[in-house]
Amino acid sequence: MDPKIYKTKDGQKFKVRLATPDDYDESIMTFASVASEKLYLNTEEVAPDIKNVWTERWKDNGANHLFCVAEYHGKLTGGIVLNKYSKSPKTFHVLELGMWLLKEYRGDGMGSAMLEYVMNWARETPGIRKIVLGVWSTNIGALALYNKFGFHIEGCHRNIAKINGKYADEVLMAYDFENKE
Ligand SMILES: CC(C)(COP(=O)(O)OP(=O)(O)OC[C@H]1O[C@@H](n2cnc3c(N)ncnc32)[C@H](O)[C@@H]1OP(=O)(O)O)[C@@H](O)C(=O)NCCC(=O)NCCS
Repeated sequence: MDPKIYKTKDGQKFKVRLATPDDYDESIMTFASVASEKLYLNTEEVAPDIKNVWTERWKDNGANHLFCVAEYHGKLTGGIVLNKYSKSPKTFHVLELGMWLLKEYRGDGMGSAMLEYVMNWARETPGIRKIVLGVWSTNIGALALYNKFGFHIEGCHRNIAKINGKYADEVLMAYDFENKE
C-alpha cells in the first residue's frame, strides 16, 4: 500500500500512509492527547498496555484490517484505524472505524484525506463489504465528515454518554460497499 501525498487547504503537503511499529510510540501520544480532551473518543486515558495491544492487533497491518497515520513535516498528526468488528466469522466482512487528529491540525482537510485513503483500500480489498462507526451526537465536525463521505445513519444509542455533564447519543453510522461480494 503506497503512501499518498495530499495538500492542506492552504497548500501544505502532508502524507497518509500505513503505520509501522516504529510509529506506535508517537501514535500513542497523538491518541492520548485527543483522548485527554474527553470530548470525542470513548477512551479518556490510554491503557498502559496499549502498545502491546496495537502490536498484536496490527501484526498483519494492511492485510484485512488497517492502521494508517497522517504525517506532516515528519511529525505524526493523527491516525485512522479499521478494526475487525468482532472475532466472529459472521462479521468478517465488517470493519469498525476510529480516527483522531491533534487539535491544532483539525479543519484543514487531513481527516478527509485519511478517510479517503482507507476507504479506497477497503473498496479494493476483497472480503470487505461494510465500515461501521459510532460518533457522539455532539461531535458536529466528525458527523459532517462522515456524511460528506456517504456514511448513513443506521441507528442510535440514546443518552449513552455523559459529556461535560450533559447526556449525548451515540450515532451509529455505516458505509456499505453494496456491489461487493
Ligand atoms: C473528526 C476529525 C478526524 C475530522 O478531521 P478534520 O481534518 O478536522 O476534517 P476536515 O478538515 O477534513 O473536514 C471534513 C469536513 O467536515 C466538516 N467539518 C470539519 N470540521 C467541522 C466543524 N468543526 N464543524 C462543522 N463541520 C466541520 C466540513 O464539512 C469538512 O468538509 P469541507 O472541508 O469539504 O467543507 C477531526 O476533527 C478530529 O480528530 N476530531 C477529534 C477526534 C474525533 O472526533 N474523532 C472521531 C470520533 S468518531
